[in-house]
Amino acid sequence: MLILGIETSCDDTAASVVREGREMLSGVISSQDRFHRKYGGVVPEIASRRHLETVNLIIDEALECAGCSFDDIDAIAVTQGPGLVGSLLIGIMTAKALAYVYSKPLVAVNHLEGHIFSSLIGRPELEPPFLSLIVSGGHSDLIWVNDYCDYEVMGRTRDDAAGEAFDKVAKYFNLGYPGGPVIDRMAKEGNPEAIIFPRAKMKDNRLDFSFSGIKTAVVNYVRNTSAAGKNRGIKQKKGKPEVIEIKDKKLMADILASFQNTVVGMLLDNTLAAAEIKNTKTIVIGGGVAANSCLRRKFREAAEKEGLKLYYPEISLCTDNAAMIACAGYYRIKKRKPGQCLALTARANLPVT
Ligand code: KG4
Ligand code: ZN
Repeated sequence: MLILGIETSCDDTAASVVREGREMLSGVISSQDRFHRKYGGVVPEIASRRHLETVNLIIDEALECAGCSFDDIDAIAVTQGPGLVGSLLIGIMTAKALAYVYSKPLVAVNHLEGHIFSSLIGRPELEPPFLSLIVSGGHSDLIWVNDYCDYEVMGRTRDDAAGEAFDKVAKYFNLGYPGGPVIDRMAKEGNPEAIIFPRAKMKDNRLDFSFSGIKTAVVNYVRNTSAAGKNRGIKQKKGKPEVIEIKDKKLMADILASFQNTVVGMLLDNTLAAAEIKNTKTIVIGGGVAANSCLRRKFREAAEKEGLKLYYPEISLCTDNAAMIACAGYYRIKKRKPGQCLALTARANLPVT
């Protein structure tokens, strides 16, 4: 079975052809980073306009790279939500039009479900049940995957997502957008133990996360610590948030490495606690932050110590892509989950369960 996946939930326009759910024949992604960079985050109106300009070209290229045409495609899978409603609608309307014109079944996929299954691509041995940690710009969720299409949310963020914390800290230091990759790179020169930032702990559900306080902790450190205070240059244009420049490169790297280490520590602790509750040995990580080198190292070390099997998507499949949507769509079809009719519409807050 060949599935064409289409993903436009945020700022990446992506299409992919996947065979039998796990073999990626093509994966084409058009990143909009350069259009959003100067605003320090995704501008929804720009995102939907760019999707509209590129989506058909990206789909054509995905088919061409896979060496097939619409005649060979068995079904179209598209992201229904969660995401930016204007962005989602471009993918959905395109998928609907194609499904109608070429008489193909249309499958709606939850974007988080896609991230959960991104690790399955190229890995025939990986099957549920397993514990999934989704860490992206919009989500930080611990999901028990009992079976395909059968999920239980064990923990989630109460405020910011982990990737959002990376993006906000990067914005504060004027390091560019998206913040995760640049912090990951700069933190390599720093000492992760140099600064102890406080960790948020939830009283009612210890598996929930909170990342909004960590940016404030970084800001307070810069404001209140003499080492950072002497080193900082504040640029503030009227009516704009302050932007800090730390001139001492080593200090900057220490702050970023310590911030990253704290975020990863929180993710690791809750993941290990959830794995213990479910008595599982298999942990599957997905989402943009799964590309983080500190996260990969710390999770690998913990897995070796605890005898856990750890799966990540390859780096190019950590961030948003359409192969994961095609993969999730394949299992929706296999599980005979209701096929979507042409009345399908975008749902900005679509829950995974
Ligand atoms: O999964 P994704 O492409 O989009 C969402 O569904 O949100 O994730 C994007 C997020 C951004 O916040 C970005 O800063 C973060 O993933 N990210 C990283 C790294 N690469 C991307 N965060 C930390 N380290 C990285 N290497
Ligand atoms: Zn995503």
